[in-house]
Amino acid sequence: MSDMARVKKVELHLHLEGAAQPDFIRQIAFEKKVDLSGIFTAQGGYDIHDFVHFLRVYEAATSVLTTPEDYARLTRSVLEASAGHGVVYCETFLSPDFCGGGDIGAWREYLSAMTEAADAAERDFGITMRGVITAVRHFGPDQAKRAARCAAETAGRMICGFGMAGDEKIGHVRDFSWSFDCAAEAGLPFTIHAGEWGGAQSVRETLDAYNPPRIGHGVEAISDPDLVARLADTGVVLECCPVSNVFLGVFPNWKSHPLASLREAGVKVTVSTDDPPFFHTNMSREYEALEQHFGWAETEFTEINQTALAAAFCDEETRARVAKRLES
Ligand code: ADE
Ligand code: ZN
Repeated sequence: MSDMARVKKVELHLHLEGAAQPDFIRQIAFEKKVDLSGIFTAQGGYDIHDFVHFLRVYEAATSVLTTPEDYARLTRSVLEASAGHGVVYCETFLSPDFCGGGDIGAWREYLSAMTEAADAAERDFGITMRGVITAVRHFGPDQAKRAARCAAETAGRMICGFGMAGDEKIGHVRDFSWSFDCAAEAGLPFTIHAGEWGGAQSVRETLDAYNPPRIGHGVEAISDPDLVARLADTGVVLECCPVSNVFLGVFPNWKSHPLASLREAGVKVTVSTDDPPFFHTNMSREYEALEQHFGWAETEFTEINQTALAAAFCDEETRARVAKRLES
């Protein structure tokens, strides 16, 4: 175990399908006799050229996961790997679109399988998982309504938030107001991907539309000092995924990544992996990079984990349990 794996961590931004190792997807494709060879490199990793291509590869890999049992296996394997990197609590983005196409009866079966697997992983590996139902922006507002209905119907111990991911350059965040209203009525807080590809304007539009307590990424806010001040003043938490951003080219390198500058400006930042095997990362590697490029150490790691735990959407009893684990 590396030294960084020993640091206890809270992760708020992890797409469940995006955490599937290539070997895991290959094994399921083999069992189902599906040919997925086109999405892998000769070395066996995911073959990705740019962000939009990444979304296609992600959806192709996900297409072999067709049953609740597949998602139970995925949940266990992802949580075991995360726990191995010191993660004690993780919020995963779950999409009913991929789990029964938005049908509520099917979604309940997938959710029940994932919940059982997550509860077993908590007993076996000491990691707690909670789910944030995530609409996929490029699937459009009508499909998002199905995801929102699934979220509203199954809100509870496991499903504790609602959000949106996908291609931020498509449509406007306000096009999805029906879905966000539906989730809000069920009492679910939001985290919405913005400022990964849509610029500072996208972050501003998202804050103006829904006032979410958390933003997925948000890092492009750095180009607008007034917006950075607004984020700092209002205490909106950014789920930053620096390796993902550098890998996909949101910023060309670590030197130009604004994570440390945002923190210095008083913005509440946290660190997550997004889709770890797609970007050749894990939580230990993220922290190693923070140490190497920003000189971060125990003080900063404690701060980002406390920020993340305070911003987690879980119930208070879970938060208190995780807080003890984080301290131990
Ligand atoms: N879905 C999975 N990963 C994503 C990302 N980084 N941005 C938007 N949508 C995603
Ligand atoms: Zn994401």
